[in-house]
Amino acid sequence: MLLLTQELGSAQREATRHPGLVDPFGRAITYLRVSVTDRCDFRCVYCMSEHMTFLPKRDLLTLHELDRVCSAFIAQGVRKLRITGGEPLVRRDVMGLFRSLSRHLASGALDELTLTTNGSQLGRFAVELADCGVRRVNVSVDTLDPGKFRSITRWGDLAQVLAGIDAAQEAGLRVKINTVALKGVNEDEIETLMEWAHGRGMDLTVIEVMPLGDIEPSRLDQYLPLSVVRARLSGRYTLVDLDDRTGGPARYVRVKETGGRLGFITPLTHNFCESCNRVRLTCTGQLFMCLGQEDAADLRAPVRASKDDGLLDQAIAEAISRKPKGHDFIIDRRHARPVVGRHMSMTGG
Ligand code: GTP
Ligand code: 5AD
Ligand code: SF4
Repeated sequence: MLLLTQELGSAQREATRHPGLVDPFGRAITYLRVSVTDRCDFRCVYCMSEHMTFLPKRDLLTLHELDRVCSAFIAQGVRKLRITGGEPLVRRDVMGLFRSLSRHLASGALDELTLTTNGSQLGRFAVELADCGVRRVNVSVDTLDPGKFRSITRWGDLAQVLAGIDAAQEAGLRVKINTVALKGVNEDEIETLMEWAHGRGMDLTVIEVMPLGDIEPSRLDQYLPLSVVRARLSGRYTLVDLDDRTGGPARYVRVKETGGRLGFITPLTHNFCESCNRVRLTCTGQLFMCLGQEDAADLRAPVRASKDDGLLDQAIAEAISRKPKGHDFIIDRRHARPVVGRHMSMTGG
């Protein structure tokens, strides 16, 4: 409870520092996540169904329109941009977007331009990303076993991802590894992943699976509460709570034995919505004010309606005024259906 009170206080302190976009609960919106494509070259079992229908390309915002929306948010106080997907690096010419957005880093208007990726294309793009001012990347790796990697991602190649991580580190990018904890699949590998990540100077964040979109396996079978993971790790390692924040929802500990940082993202066992500072834009220009709710505001129509940003700014302000308090995620026997119909690949988390 003490933590919740402190978090609420910090969101409100942010609100006084950034008078730009403040939601009805006094939370300053300083972080925009942008999904540039719903497509992906993997089909992770907790994220997508094997046979996905993707959006027709004509429905997508152009890169120029994406830049306009991002820039409008930055003008209103957003300090952190995360490019996501689907897999953001499969969108054609996505580097052009990074390149143009990097002007906001140079001007000091933006603190961080970053991305979340499955790593498959990092070998090609790491150097250019670093050149655009990207300083760190989050890469999803759920297992270090090549066969298991193939079965979790359905289409992925572990060696290619590991080569991508090498390329990112060689380019000077800091890498954080994301691991979705999956019951009976990788639960016995969390320690191995942590030792590997920490041994290479990378943070590791474990994530609870969230009920977003219909998939073939049951999420009830996949769901592993991180309270269980943490209790198991505590038996072997000394976990020291840290106050570190990266602007995202992870809560970090220092692992004394490895010296590395371990993050926990616990939407189900410990709701962190009180301190939410973010909204998410889809590749078609829908703005989702909460990952766990269906409500969205259309920003594509105002972008296309005029060349100046008056209508867009108005639509953004109206959207933030209806940001909900939080999500209602639940995974149990009585709630077999996902709470939210869309897949994670639409909003990129
Ligand atoms: P940094 O803290 O900046 O490193 O980023 P992050 O960990 O927030 O971002 P990343 O894209 O790596 O996402 C990690 C996980 O956090 C994904 O599974 C996201 O879906 C989840 N996540 C990010 N924001 C939210 C949120 O507002 N609500 C919930 N429930 N999950 C979120
Ligand atoms: N629940 C939790 N995390 C998910 N991801 C994708 N789908 C889900 C889900 N249903 C993760 C990916 C990636 C991040 C953006 O979200 O593994 O690390
Ligand atoms: Fe692709 Fe990421 Fe979804 Fe896996 S989790 S299918 S890599 S979007």
